[in-house]
This record gives sequence, C-alpha cells and structure tokens, in this order.
Amino acid sequence: MTKVLIDCDPGIDDAMALALAAGAPGLELVGVTTVGGNADLAVTTRNALALREFLDLGDVPVAPGSPGALLHPVVRADHVHGPTGLGDAVLPEPVRAAADGHAVDLIIDTLRAAPGEVTLIAIGPLTNLALAVRKEPRVVEWARDLVIMGGSWTRGNHNPAAEFNMLADPEAAAIVFESGWTVRMLGLDVTLTAVITAEVLDRMRPLGRLAELLVPAATAYGTVTADAGPAVHDACAVAYAMDPTLVTMTPAVVNVETRGEYTRGMTVVDFRTDGRAPNALVGTRLEVGRFWDAVLAAYGRLAER
Ligand code: BDR
Ligand code: CA
Repeated sequence: MTKVLIDCDPGIDDAMALALAAGAPGLELVGVTTVGGNADLAVTTRNALALREFLDLGDVPVAPGSPGALLHPVVRADHVHGPTGLGDAVLPEPVRAAADGHAVDLIIDTLRAAPGEVTLIAIGPLTNLALAVRKEPRVVEWARDLVIMGGSWTRGNHNPAAEFNMLADPEAAAIVFESGWTVRMLGLDVTLTAVITAEVLDRMRPLGRLAELLVPAATAYGTVTADAGPAVHDACAVAYAMDPTLVTMTPAVVNVETRGEYTRGMTVVDFRTDGRAPNALVGTRLEVGRFWDAVLAAYGRLAER
C-alpha cells in the first residue's frame, strides 16, 4: 500500500480525487490538508470534512491550512465550482471537527513519522507545501514523492498563460519547484484530456450513493456531450499515484514566473535539460481509456463498501 496525504481545495474535481483515493487499490489515505483556492478556506475545509464522512474515510485527519497566497491577494474559482465549491452536489453537514493544529504541521509530522513512505499529492494552490518546506526542509527527503496537479507546458486556463493552482500562489509554487523535489507535475496538457463525456457519466450513474456526489458535481462543472465534457484535473494526480503507467512523464526543468506582467503563474517548462538536473517529471500523455477504466473501477469498489 502506498500512503498518500492529499493537500486540496475541494472543489469539484478535488472531491472526485478524494473519492478516487478512497477507492483506489494500493492507496492508503493518511491525511487531508486544506488550502484556500477554489473557495475560501472555511468552505474548502467544510467540504473536506463533509467528504470524510460521505466517503467513509474513517479517522483520516483533516487539517485546515493557509487561507490565501503567501504574498498576494486571493484568486478564487467559484465561477467554476459554484458558491458551495461542489457544484450541484449537496453533502450533509459534517458532524466531526477538523484536527487540532495547522495543515503545515500535519504535513511535516506525517512525513517525519514515516520517512520514504508517504506520497504527497497537492491538488490546490501550493501555499501549504511551500510553508512546510520553509519550516522543515527535510520534508523533501522524507516524502516518497510529490505529485501535483498544476501548471502546463502549453497554455493556461485561468488566463492564457497560467493554470489556476499556479496563478493562485506563484511564489509558493516557485518555492516548491526550487525545493529539491523532483515534482511529478500533472498539468493541463494531460488533465484536459481526462474529460467526463456522456459515456463516462453513464458509467457513473449506477454507483448508488456515490453517484449522488459525482453526477450533480460533474454536470454543474461543464457541459457533457458525446465527445467532450469537464476535465477531472485533480483526479489525474491521484490516478498517477495509483498507477504511474497511466501517464507518460518527461524530465524537464520547470520555473514558475512570478514577475511577468502577462505571465505571472506560468510554468516555464524546458524539456532541453542540457545536462541540468531536472526538477520535474512532467506529464505529457495520459492513456485516457485506461484512466477511466481504473477510475471507474475504484469508484465501483468504493460504492460497494
Ligand atoms: C485546478 O484548478 C482548480 O479549479 C481545480 O480544482 C484544479 O485543481 C485546475 O486548473
Ligand atoms: Ca483543486
């Protein structure tokens, strides 16, 4: 079993990623930390707590973290995820409270307790991770791997240059890419190929109670047609942790633009490493058919529990 700690901002696709982690064979979810991103921290934390109960995650600790970016005003994506952060899905109010303490300390303590065993998966702005690296640089050696959903090597989504998680805190992203980690980066180039088509949605409908989360969340997230639909960006990061053969990864040197007038938050991806040590493995191709088979199988396992 691979232990995973997920830092997230639920978020429709974050919820789908957490559901995937809950059902994935071979993954053991050991912690959830939240960050302000798609919605305010109070909303993303409430959603993480509600998902812990809805998905039956047991005693997995949920710890709230940073409300906003290290240096700059907040950027939100509530126009995408709706005011509740979960589209049209309605989850019961959580009964149990968040863990005591800050997300940054949960990240550090979890990694320290099991060096080399825990894969960090970050699917929101990288504020908590940057603070963890600053507070305890040994997290880089303690983590088994760092997998992120963020950036791209071709385009942005929040603006022409920048992907949302990078734009929401470019300074934090720069710290993470400069930390010494080999960042496993699942950017828009691959995540935009993982879309919920009508066929995928039809495969979600029979999933019982889980479908009550997945279907209204998905349909609020974008228009589903025979060959297009909303992209489940964050689920790609968890799917990669579950089965790395789903994604072709290419070594690169990645820098995050923090000063550009038009390009703040852009990931500048250089595949010509020219003898320089790559600081990233960048996803360049997702096997979409196998991805959906694996994701839906994991959802099926979860639904049958
Ligand atoms: C990323 O931005 C957020 O809106 C999603 O949850 C995902 O993490 C995609 O750019
Ligand atoms: Ca997210």
